[in-house]
Amino acid sequence: MQQAAIPAFFYEEAAAYIRETLAPAAPPDTALVLGSGLSALAGELEGAAAIPYAHIPHFPRTTNAAHPGVLYAGRLAGQAVFCFTGRWHCYEGYTMEQAAFYVGVLARLGVKSLLLTNAAGGIRPGCRPGDIMLLADHIKLGPGSPLTGPRFVDMTRAYDPAYRQIALETAAEMQLPLWEGVYLYAPGPQYETPAEIRAFRTLGADAVGMSTVPEVIAAAGEGIRTLGLSLITNLAAGMTGQPLSDDEVLAEGQKAFGNMSAFLKRLLPAIRQERG
Ligand code: HPA
Repeated sequence: MQQAAIPAFFYEEAAAYIRETLAPAAPPDTALVLGSGLSALAGELEGAAAIPYAHIPHFPRTTNAAHPGVLYAGRLAGQAVFCFTGRWHCYEGYTMEQAAFYVGVLARLGVKSLLLTNAAGGIRPGCRPGDIMLLADHIKLGPGSPLTGPRFVDMTRAYDPAYRQIALETAAEMQLPLWEGVYLYAPGPQYETPAEIRAFRTLGADAVGMSTVPEVIAAAGEGIRTLGLSLITNLAAGMTGQPLSDDEVLAEGQKAFGNMSAFLKRLLPAIRQERG
């Protein structure tokens, strides 16, 4: 087993700080993580308390400008939620355990549902920038895991089947195109090569990105039910003959913001209802 580098009391101290900051209100039991270009949705929270990551004991620093690094707790679409604007990536020099640190903190705060969003490159033939992909599963090549406590965690239901069904039904009601696919975790920070993308397609990947998977594994270990959504910001390397750029990824994130935020606002109450 991988040696735990983060002591258990770090999780406890971070959770205690958040709990005390929100008191007397109870911490929300649902968390939403806003990926690249989607942070503006936090501005729609009502009655939000804002906690900069830098104030929370042991929270790593975000270094990606598209990730502001503030945790909000408030109401969105009538539901109490934690809302993370930005996350940590292994390409910023963090281990998987550090990248997923906040999931362990959320578990200690009693969070039961985790909605993860990210920006991803589309691999599936026919997909287009602006599409939203519902994660049905993932592929992680190579070693590394955020798990340092439990071993042999079941991953067959890591992307909660009931939540996926709700997402598909909600998108259909909204006439929002949504397709299910497999997300391949590429650690980055460089984009992939065209040959890698061809290989990933052969392996069964529909989209590729540099986040989310550490958190999904940690959430599976904690028993937190997870839903993952990828905003396809670009076609993956080699698919258009054009080079990939971070600006394109961010611009597409901003264009699709309306669709993604409307979708998330419909999903939150539907997921809450399912949990009873
Ligand atoms: N590859 C990896 N990560 C990404 C991409 C991509 O093409 N687009 C957005 N995030």
